[in-house]
Amino acid sequence: MSDTVSTVSRRSALRLLGGAIAVAAAATSGLTPPAHALDRPDQAAGPRVEGLLAGLTLDEKISLLHGATDPDSLGQAGYVPGVKRLGIPPLRLADGPAGVRVTKHATALPAPVLLAAAFDPDLAHRYGRVIGHEGRALGQDVLLSPMVNLIRTPYAGRNFETFSEDPLLASDLVAAEIEGIQGEGLVATVKHYAMNNQEQDRMSIDVRVDEQTMHELELRGFEAAVGVGTGAVMGAYNKVNGTFACESKTLLTDILRGRWGFDGWVMTDWFAAHSTKEALVAGLDMEMPDGTYFGTALKSAVQNGSVSERYVDRAVRRILSVMDRFGLLDGSAPPRPDRDAKAGAAVALEVAKAGATLLRNERHTLPLTGRGGIAVIGPTGTLPFVSGGGSAHVVPDHADSPLDVIKSRVAKVTYTMGEDLFGKAIPAASLSPAFDTEAQQVGAGKTWTYDGTLTVSDADEWTFVLHFSAAPTARPKVLLDGEELFPLAPGYGEYFSGGLVSAAPDGLSVRRKTLSLTKGAHTLQITAQGGDAGQLFRLRRITGATRAQDVAEAVKAARSARDVVLFAYEDATEGQDRTTVALPGNQNRLIEAVAAANPRTTVVLNTSSSTSMPWLRSTGAVLQMYYPGQEGAAATAAVLFGDCDPGGRLTQSFPADDAHHPVAGDPLRYPGVDGTEEYSEGIHAGYRWYDAEGVRPLFPFGHGLSYTSFSYDDLSARWHRQGLDVSLTVHNTGPRAGVAVPQVYVGPSPDLQLDQAVRVLAGYRRLVLRPGERRRVTVRVAARTLSSWDAKRHGWALGTGRRSVWVGASAGDLRMRTSVKVG
Ligand code: BGC
Repeated sequence: MSDTVSTVSRRSALRLLGGAIAVAAAATSGLTPPAHALDRPDQAAGPRVEGLLAGLTLDEKISLLHGATDPDSLGQAGYVPGVKRLGIPPLRLADGPAGVRVTKHATALPAPVLLAAAFDPDLAHRYGRVIGHEGRALGQDVLLSPMVNLIRTPYAGRNFETFSEDPLLASDLVAAEIEGIQGEGLVATVKHYAMNNQEQDRMSIDVRVDEQTMHELELRGFEAAVGVGTGAVMGAYNKVNGTFACESKTLLTDILRGRWGFDGWVMTDWFAAHSTKEALVAGLDMEMPDGTYFGTALKSAVQNGSVSERYVDRAVRRILSVMDRFGLLDGSAPPRPDRDAKAGAAVALEVAKAGATLLRNERHTLPLTGRGGIAVIGPTGTLPFVSGGGSAHVVPDHADSPLDVIKSRVAKVTYTMGEDLFGKAIPAASLSPAFDTEAQQVGAGKTWTYDGTLTVSDADEWTFVLHFSAAPTARPKVLLDGEELFPLAPGYGEYFSGGLVSAAPDGLSVRRKTLSLTKGAHTLQITAQGGDAGQLFRLRRITGATRAQDVAEAVKAARSARDVVLFAYEDATEGQDRTTVALPGNQNRLIEAVAAANPRTTVVLNTSSSTSMPWLRSTGAVLQMYYPGQEGAAATAAVLFGDCDPGGRLTQSFPADDAHHPVAGDPLRYPGVDGTEEYSEGIHAGYRWYDAEGVRPLFPFGHGLSYTSFSYDDLSARWHRQGLDVSLTVHNTGPRAGVAVPQVYVGPSPDLQLDQAVRVLAGYRRLVLRPGERRRVTVRVAARTLSSWDAKRHGWALGTGRRSVWVGASAGDLRMRTSVKVG
């Protein structure tokens, strides 16, 4: 059987509503820039848009260029009032990227990083369709997603919201997802343009990056999004080479419109505008979520002549053109559908299974049989880890706990927490005077204060855990020995207070602080305000002693079961980076102790991105599930018990530790020094860095095991004018049906005098093969993938000459090699 696929442009027909679109499909495949599209202020749009523009007053035009308060808010992030008089409807803009974020329930899909792990653009398309359909059903017009910033650092807080460290994979997925979203009539917004690869100082960091690196890596995903007609682009918070992304002419006009032919509109990230004239003239069209710069300031600038109204018209024209394309101006958009929660759940389950990545499986630990009993351990065994924090959090239709799902399949299941997230009561005897630390109620309008001492019998590490019912900014103030334990995060920070573990099971908000306490008395002062509604709070603790007790209970349970499934977590959120790749809290010690007690321990990772695993060799299996969405428990169980093959592969390299990865050891490279950061690794990001430096990752890019085995044979590569066809035969040599993801990597061109990677991913194919089945596949590698960016010529240069071609099961497991003359 033979099967050919292009991994760059899988769909020739754009399934967009509303008629013809002028997108630069050629820009993603060809080497020449397309014609400009609406980049000049005087360039006309279609007759309907021009007609409306002619009838709009200056105030009305300006009202279309910035966000406002929605009088009928559905809980979405943004709103732009329309102009009723002229039949221009309002726009409601809701966050993604793992579902539609409004106040109502929606399908909580697996995080994009899990979707990406399936290496399957068709699945990304269906993921997009679910969001597109639900967005329309939930009263939205624009989705603030997908995010396509590359995973550059393992610490970045939003790695779960995006796809990969590899630009080809990210481009394929973003394009397919956008086609899915927009195919349902919802405008997609690719974000955050560009170089928003970390959360640390994201509002201000100045990313210094050279042209070649920018075009070969980060920009490719955005270009692919433009190539399939994304309606909107969201500008990033950060600066790029000295200029805020939201007022960078290079990004917003020269590249986006001039080179790629983008004809939609550019909005800011939330509160990312910094100027009126500079931003508008540079190519920004809409300020979100308010009108600080594009409201009255813009009106005055037009009236006093410092900004030409032609720039206002240009921005309005771009917005209206997209609305017109989606049938929002003439009522031709299809009526809003009803939600199809069942269909959404089915896709959520399929994606979570397809992306489930089995990192290790020794001694036939998996699949589980259930015989001999299972000890389930870990806090996320009972708390379903649906999604990460920040603007990516969706209100799920439901979320089952993995423990319940496992119990429904196996008779003998025990559960121990192992790692305490919410703390234990502080013994009353250690407080003088004692107070009700478990349920302190403060009446409305009242202030409650405490001034006493906490006496500690042994020096120990304490984690203080505050649970409170008030708004985060009105939480009790707690001082220990004069130090405030839970200070407010600066700026926008409190909005991003973590995901799952920032709320107790009963819904109270939670904050934690870990300190080393000396033996003896410590002063403790608390002030809590009742506010308008009163508040309830608790102050708890986790100590070295309670941790040891929790681990001992888990070890005991592990000893008395044949198999252990240990759920480990890491709770990432927008607005914060991690400080280490280690699992948080006491989890490493817990896993070590449990795996030592029972080598048939499977660790299920509900983490945002890569983590280090000092305990790896003592475990039986490790299953990476990331944030698996509302069907995560069912998907995890389906993989653990072998109902399906774990279908995922890593879309990012996993470093062994904090000292060995592309941004380690150089603060200028990450997180930046004095507000500046240099992408000095250049084009050698992700697996390219490990190859260039000869550093072994813990797990390489592309890694992921199956329950069956595959062999790869008969590699051939043929150059023709459209690119390179790489053919190989994949054989399922094992006893079960399974998923193979052969990956094609290509080496440097001998003809280019430009920096080139040791090898780059040039194509891949996800295959489901029956036991014994053989399949011949041809992976088409586009010319763009074989090209490098020549900064001197400001263009792409095809890497001609004899080039190595490898096929492997990962970037670190290359099985076959050939070479081919390109050009
Ligand atoms: C995030 C965006 C998001 C926006 C609206 C920002 O803080 O960076 O990704 O779309 O908020 O919620």
